[in-house]
Amino acid sequence: MKDIKETRERINEIDKKMVKLFEERMAEAKEVFLYKRENNLPIFDKEREDEVLSRNSELIENKEYLKYYEEFMENLMNTSKKYQEELKRIDETPRSSSLKIIHVNTDKEYDILVGKNILKNFDKFTHINRKVLLVTDENIPRKYAKSIEKESKELFYYVIKPGEKSKNIDNYKAILELMTNNHFSRKDVVIALGGGVVGDLAGFAASTYMRGIDFYNIPTSLLAMVDSSIGGKCAIDFLGIKNIVGSFYQPNKVIIDIDTLKTLPKRELYAGLAEAFKMALCFDKELAALILRDPNIIDNIDKVIVSSINIKKRVVEEDTYESGLRKVLNYGHTVGHAIEAIESPKILHGEAVALGMLYASSKEVCKLINLFIAKYSLPKPKELDKQKIMEFIRHDKKSSQDRIDFIYLNSATNFEIKNITLKELEDRL
Ligand SMILES: NC(=O)c1ccc[n+]([C@@H]2O[C@H](COP(=O)([O-])OP(=O)(O)OC[C@H]3O[C@@H](n4cnc5c(N)ncnc54)[C@H](O)[C@@H]3O)[C@@H](O)[C@H]2O)c1
Repeated sequence: MKDIKETRERINEIDKKMVKLFEERMAEAKEVFLYKRENNLPIFDKEREDEVLSRNSELIENKEYLKYYEEFMENLMNTSKKYQEELKRIDETPRSSSLKIIHVNTDKEYDILVGKNILKNFDKFTHINRKVLLVTDENIPRKYAKSIEKESKELFYYVIKPGEKSKNIDNYKAILELMTNNHFSRKDVVIALGGGVVGDLAGFAASTYMRGIDFYNIPTSLLAMVDSSIGGKCAIDFLGIKNIVGSFYQPNKVIIDIDTLKTLPKRELYAGLAEAFKMALCFDKELAALILRDPNIIDNIDKVIVSSINIKKRVVEEDTYESGLRKVLNYGHTVGHAIEAIESPKILHGEAVALGMLYASSKEVCKLINLFIAKYSLPKPKELDKQKIMEFIRHDKKSSQDRIDFIYLNSATNFEIKNITLKELEDRL
């Protein structure tokens, strides 16, 4: 007879191993659920269950255990189904109230989830039972990461200083170092929690580490919600040139919690609205009218976000790598980037784009832009330093030789992509 104490210790050891295996199995069950949801398949699959049972039963050497093993497996599969049913319920409850799911179909398919107070369910929409690198900036309230902190297996933070200057090679390198030193593998994940700066930097790091690891984007500024988090462009600035080093890399999911806008400063909100207005002028007159006429746009911000995402989705689905239609989204950016670079940090990205649009539009459209600038108290246009602007544009990545693709708006939703000389552009200023 074996000593009971020793036997119990061995059982404890076995149970410990089984806890780990159980967790691994449940994580895989979640993956199965996500796949089934994506492909509209039922949770219960009798054929698969029978096959699992018979294949594994054959491995039992001591036949005395067989019927108990079968019972054990049946219970285990029921637990797994229960978990998947629960995921389905959580997934569907908010969908029927405020959650909207927009499916994007580019070189990689992914969902954009838009809703209120949905970050508390973050782990239900994602798979974070693994190593997680959370990139964020000092201004983003930590409370937004609560669910991530609670549910991830091992969490690492990389917190940058707020602002464009952080989109640099030093931060990129430090993120790669952090992942390498902590043995991140292809199975792990990077999460961006913040505005466009955080999203661009984290996305670029995720796209290059081990040739690309999973990436969830949680945009918290309006600009990032309506624009930068969608479409897969990620980049850092280098040698003073904006977005010169980057990649196209689609996220696994974008999760937009509208409630995070409550802590976004008003000025940042309106700068983000400028990017939504840009898309509206190019593609959606109704949205442009809503932005110009609504007395309290924050009450309708969900409409602005969803309409803008739908515009961007259509554009990037048609032209993921910016060889045609996607160039239109650069409307206002040629001069806007130059103004941003020269005036930074006095002028925000969205504000600079609004000013830049004035140099790329007919009189009729300029009227609308000026209305927008006045309504949302954006910086007013002022005399430009032509020489500085042109110097910047010559360095800008969109200029090849002495010609440039320039997006021009004749009237709302009536745009042209003109290939003009830099001299012609200078004359416009
Ligand atoms: N990848 C793309 O397709 C794309 C498109 C447009 C713009 N961009 C890039 O996006 C960047 C601009 O994005 P941005 O305007 O979000 O800038 P940002 O990331 O600097 O955020 C703006 C400010 O708001 C703060 N903030 C963000 N969310 C907050 C919240 N919920 N509460 C409190 N503070 C918050 C940030 O700390 C920062 O100070 C630029 O670098 C631009 O090049 C990229």
